[in-house]
Amino acid sequence: MKKRFLTSMALTGAAAFALTACSSDGGDAGSSGDASGDGGSSGDTIVVGFAQTGSESGWRSANTESMKTAFSEENGFELIFNAADNDTAAQIEAVRGFISQGVDAIVIAPIVEDGWDDVLQEAADADIPVILEDRTVSASDDLYAAWIGLDFEQEGVKAGEWAAEMYGGEETKMVVLEGTTGSAPANDRATGFDAAIEGTMIEKIDSQTGDFTRDGGKSVMEGFIQNYGVDNIDLVYAHNDDMALGAIEAIKAAGAVPGEDIKIISIDAVHDGMQALVDGEINYIVECNPLLGDLVAAAVSAVVNGEEVEAVQYVEDLAFDQAAAEAALPDRKY
Ligand code: AHR
Repeated sequence: MKKRFLTSMALTGAAAFALTACSSDGGDAGSSGDASGDGGSSGDTIVVGFAQTGSESGWRSANTESMKTAFSEENGFELIFNAADNDTAAQIEAVRGFISQGVDAIVIAPIVEDGWDDVLQEAADADIPVILEDRTVSASDDLYAAWIGLDFEQEGVKAGEWAAEMYGGEETKMVVLEGTTGSAPANDRATGFDAAIEGTMIEKIDSQTGDFTRDGGKSVMEGFIQNYGVDNIDLVYAHNDDMALGAIEAIKAAGAVPGEDIKIISIDAVHDGMQALVDGEINYIVECNPLLGDLVAAAVSAVVNGEEVEAVQYVEDLAFDQAAAEAALPDRKY
């Protein structure tokens, strides 16, 4: 028999979320099965399957490292890691694999918001708790124990408010490099930014996905430059630093000066983005903190041990102009 665990949706006020699972050690909280598929136990080790999106960005690398460090053997975990290369079907299959392995808990950084209902229900039917990190899903919050991440809409609002203040008083033609289509950060960062620039003189002339990658940002920016001409673009809003860095390459190749001829606002504040801000090639960055590992590991331990866990946990984000980036860069952890 496996253990029993319980968690409640404390912050959302949603109904208590209770799951029962089997344990091979007589049912005491804190012990776990292994990943061999036989429902076996490895003492007090908590076996966790983590379905990561992929390795699309500097942010993602920092997030993966944070998770691997937090879910270490020394901390009492066995981590089964899967990176889905930004392929939603592959990510869902990875979660199904964790279910059939009989892990103690599953952590997902969902690539997109939609399409999770069935597999989350399958995890619930198998009495395996799910914790979401980073991105959200549109499925019912009854189907997962907790979500830990960032307020993507507020990130968009902060970026948009700065754009409105700096450029909103004069005619400004803006192009947008969107994150992965259907992902929570792409959806919410667009919503927040658009609301913040409403009523200003910033005009969005085009918006396309660069999939959160440097190559994607570069090729979409090349297309924008080809379509509109480098002199007819004043501002780039990039949903992450990697795409902004790709856009910088495209702008330079077109003979213009990033940060001067074409202003750039982005989100993440990873090291390379912050360096570009210090160098004057990006004008403003809103942070998206990837160091979620310790909070996620604490939530997994609590859920598996039958303790209450806060159902919604936001991590604070900062924002940087050039001077703030100069001050912060030497101590930056990612
Ligand atoms: O979900 C967080 C986003 O995913 C980051 O902003 C981006 O860099 C990453 O790919």
